[in-house]
Amino acid sequence: MTLSAPNAAIPGTVDPEQAQEFLTRFHIETDAPTPLARRIWQIRDEIDATGTYTHTTEELAFGARLAWRNAARCIGRLYWRSLHVRDRREEATPAGIATECVQHLREATRSGRIRSTITVFAPDRPGAPGPRIHNDQLIRYAAHRTASGGLRGDGKYAALTERAIALGWQPPDPPGRFDVLPLIISAGEGEPEIFELPRDAVLEVPLSHPEYEWFAELRLRWHAVPAISNMPLEVGGITYPAAPFNGWYLGTEIGARNLVDADRYDLLPVLAERLGLDTSSERTLWRDRALVEMVRAVHHSFDVAGVTMADHHSESRRFLTHVEREEQAGRRSPADWSWIVPPVSGGLTPVYHRDFDEPDPATRPAFLLPEPRPAT
Ligand code: ARG
Repeated sequence: MTLSAPNAAIPGTVDPEQAQEFLTRFHIETDAPTPLARRIWQIRDEIDATGTYTHTTEELAFGARLAWRNAARCIGRLYWRSLHVRDRREEATPAGIATECVQHLREATRSGRIRSTITVFAPDRPGAPGPRIHNDQLIRYAAHRTASGGLRGDGKYAALTERAIALGWQPPDPPGRFDVLPLIISAGEGEPEIFELPRDAVLEVPLSHPEYEWFAELRLRWHAVPAISNMPLEVGGITYPAAPFNGWYLGTEIGARNLVDADRYDLLPVLAERLGLDTSSERTLWRDRALVEMVRAVHHSFDVAGVTMADHHSESRRFLTHVEREEQAGRRSPADWSWIVPPVSGGLTPVYHRDFDEPDPATRPAFLLPEPRPAT
């Protein structure tokens, strides 16, 4: 038996089968207050009448946690039950969303005791798309064009920086390497608007090294909270296009990628020079040696600042604990090996030495890959 709403062709219309599948899982895994059969008839009526339905707060929270549990690229899934869910579905205006994103950062940051948090804004409805946050994370650093044609800042965000400027953003003068970009938010089909994050909502950690005093002179820093803001959350057939979520950092994300990727901060040559390494040949492993010192500095600095941070060795082991626990509960934990294995010392971590169930892109609830953007 398949039931489909008469207006199924309109984007944002819910497939009742997907709703039913999710509600069934919700009832299997939680102490749901309403009997399953009754809840299914309720939502089928609602879908028949409106093309969509409304999650209870409990269903929404469970759906968001499940989307995390299903996230094949995430090594931190052991903590999926602890996700703090902020239900802000009533917010659909850019200004209201910006205010709640700031509040999200405050509640997630807690002066360094980072808490995994998601804020869910208004869903897509039939013929009425929900709001959208155009930044890929709530906190990101700008890349400014220099007079010599280079980039100053995080090279990955050159296009977003230009977009913000086109929307009226005034970058700091003189432009710095770590200027926090404004949020770019649009409602439905409306024009995007920009919102500056208040300074005190963005905790940053100045980087220093446990042994090399000169490291602090490089004046590097990174923000404490990684908060992904461009992956729609899909639960039970409903899409929440704006649902920013954060965990806490793994040292390697900053120390082995953000600060060192050639198209990001590209700092290995700078570091190697300060370390006095022989860069005349790849075989001196100067890159590898500088990389380890960078990751050490990141760990050290977050520890000194009292900001939650994981390391790849411990987190790899915890991930395997998660996989085991899930197995005991009769569930599989599909995982994307190339995302789970850390970018340094892969073979030293236990996740390298095994494979995982293949992820199924149709799995729901899920955080969806962002839609490709127009180039400008
Ligand atoms: N790798 C991304 C970054 O460095 C963050 C991705 C999410 N990471 C996390 N620990 N939850 O900004």
